[in-house]
Amino acid sequence: MDSRRHDHRFAANGDGDIGGDEEEEEGGRLSKRMRPLSPRISSAEIVAEFSHHDHAVARVNNGSFGCCPASVVADQLNWQHLFLRQPDEFYFRHLQPSIHRSRSLVRELINAAHLDEVSLVDNATTAAAIVFQHVAWSFIEGAFSPGDVVVMLHYAYGAVKQSIHAYVARAGGHVVEVPLPFPLSSAEEIISEFRRTLDRCRADGRRVRLAVIDHITSMPSVVIPVKELTRICREEGVDQVFVDGAHSIGNIEVDVEDIGADFYTSNLHKWLFCPPSVAVLHARLSSVAARRLHHPVVSHEYGNGLPLESGWIGNRDYTPQLVIPTVVEFVNRFEGGLQGIQQRNHEKVVEMGKMLAAAWGTRLGCPPEMSCSMIMVGLPGCLGISSDKDAMKIRTLLREEYKVEVPIYYQPPAQGDKDESGAVITGYVRISHQVYNVEDDYHRLREAILKLVGDGFNCTLLPSQEDRLTCFFAAREMKS
Ligand SMILES: Cc1ncc(COP(=O)(O)O)c(C=O)c1O
Repeated sequence: MDSRRHDHRFAANGDGDIGGDEEEEEGGRLSKRMRPLSPRISSAEIVAEFSHHDHAVARVNNGSFGCCPASVVADQLNWQHLFLRQPDEFYFRHLQPSIHRSRSLVRELINAAHLDEVSLVDNATTAAAIVFQHVAWSFIEGAFSPGDVVVMLHYAYGAVKQSIHAYVARAGGHVVEVPLPFPLSSAEEIISEFRRTLDRCRADGRRVRLAVIDHITSMPSVVIPVKELTRICREEGVDQVFVDGAHSIGNIEVDVEDIGADFYTSNLHKWLFCPPSVAVLHARLSSVAARRLHHPVVSHEYGNGLPLESGWIGNRDYTPQLVIPTVVEFVNRFEGGLQGIQQRNHEKVVEMGKMLAAAWGTRLGCPPEMSCSMIMVGLPGCLGISSDKDAMKIRTLLREEYKVEVPIYYQPPAQGDKDESGAVITGYVRISHQVYNVEDDYHRLREAILKLVGDGFNCTLLPSQEDRLTCFFAAREMKS
């Protein structure tokens, strides 16, 4: 890893200069033409950057949709005006050099060996489609045989699981899930389950063509030892490894060289302050498969390599990709840059998680070192969460009645731990911490749950969404 990468406050040329062609590259890397670093951001400026948030809401859910500061929103608007002012000039003069500059910055963030490995796409879902489309074609064209395996974690993101079925299983692939325990007490539990699954595939005489490994699982949220699992895949002869790091950049350190997977994706709109939507797909050039990737939306760039194919997929709004220099400027205003933000978010979310677990008499879903800027905290068993629907009902209740936004995970009782009262913990909140959060956000969550417990609330008391709609329509009919 070069020393530049460790300076998380490198200048990003985010001064509104949009030509892009003077940003020279040295051997494929950004030039070291450093600019004076931006002044440190003050607490008041942080508040101003997120003044468009609904302050009535305690938003402890950065994980789902991320956030975008006002300075980045303003930059995006400038780009949109530039396009609307003279679209042809924008397209012929600005668009491609600007995407190129953004890719160069992202390349630095993830320590990619070469710029040609870095494509900007809409989101992690799109990146997954690109990889799975390639795998599907490998089955269809006979490079893979029917019944060859794709391995994924049981806790893989729902849309990614569906995508594997839609592309790969339909083309003849056999899908195998790695069962994972939760709550977790060590990364070793994940590693041994993963090994056991590969052993089973071998014992069944099946060839594993692709392993899909989350870097940070969504629900329940834990950091997966991706470097170790990728190494095991190499040892065991798994053909290709795709790491789904949808939550990773800006949340934990990402070093694609060090991880060593064939493909790695991360959203930039979750934890890197980009507007929706933009993600990176890294495809290692040394992997034969990298040159076979194509964007599923085909344009006249087809065949020119994924970075160019992804840089023009028809007439649309490309501005989320163009604000990356301003985003880098923004993070560099914080002490320690992106790394500093990550470190402080992690420390604070662990502190808040422990505070909530102590107040509710429960526990964390994993040790702090397996968490990132998100952590799972057990809810009191007496709330009676007994299905995914119940989890969603409480989430809705917290939003509507208590103005707290937090996702809730349902944990089947068979695997559950007990809370201090002896009831099985069947629900966990996933709390996030981002630079805009304050302790009061977590205190409001704590008090809302304590109030529900104090009132003797149980999920069976809540009408379902459908029941609510039925009541709503019935009430409306009675009025009319
Ligand atoms: C692990 C994981 N993969 C993929 C995605 C999909 O991300 P997006 O909706 O931005 O495509 C998510 C979204 O939260 C996720 O958590």
